[in-house]
Amino acid sequence: MDELELDTAPAAPPARARLPFGPVDIVFDDSVLVPRPWTLAQSAWARELLDSAAAGDVLELCSGAGHIGLAAVHSTDRHLVQVDREPHACELARENAAAAGVDADVRCGPMTKVLRDDEQFVLVIADPPWVPSAGVQVFPADPVWAIDGGDDGLDVARDCVRVAAQHLEPEGFVVLQLGSVEQCAQVEDTVLECGLVTAEVRDLAGGALALLRRR
Ligand SMILES: C[S@@+](CC[C@H](N)C(=O)[O-])C[C@H]1O[C@@H](n2cnc3c(N)ncnc32)[C@H](O)[C@@H]1O
Repeated sequence: MDELELDTAPAAPPARARLPFGPVDIVFDDSVLVPRPWTLAQSAWARELLDSAAAGDVLELCSGAGHIGLAAVHSTDRHLVQVDREPHACELARENAAAAGVDADVRCGPMTKVLRDDEQFVLVIADPPWVPSAGVQVFPADPVWAIDGGDDGLDVARDCVRVAAQHLEPEGFVVLQLGSVEQCAQVEDTVLECGLVTAEVRDLAGGALALLRRR
């Protein structure tokens, strides 16, 4: 009987919170990653590139609650396509885009399935899980599905590079977040196989950013 009562008890809703993230206010809850302040550097770099980029849309892969892409395109007329495979993260991203007044199209599903072949972007922002599966316990507050990047931590990152290369305008840029400068070197084979080059790597407290462009 006790078991039956436990089974039918409604699950507690995730606790919601709100944080400023650069120019936007972000709602999140304990089912997704808390917006990490240092990742605003990824938005800032993306925005700097956008300021001199040709007209065109922006793609954010592994968007979670959407803050990195929203902060990058805020107060521009850029159309933003955001992709995450977690339905609840996508709901939060839609809510955050509406609150920020950003023209965003949030696509829920694996990044290899939700883009049309003919879609091209002047800028791709990517924030894949980058923690090796054996090390996820180092981040006990984070949902494992959001940070587990497979055996070497880079399974989803390599997919991001492939998807970005398929959908990048000829003069476009990719700003890829990884855990370290060493991880940026570890994806270099995939970068080259996809016809891209690493133009610059920035070492930040918390992780690293790689800027990729066509060879
Ligand atoms: C490290 S989290 C980053 C989320 C957000 N950018 C942030 O800073 O909180 C990685 C995200 O990638 C998403 N993800 C993992 N594999 C994916 C895939 N194959 N296609 C789309 N999204 C994926 C996860 O659902 C998760 O939200």
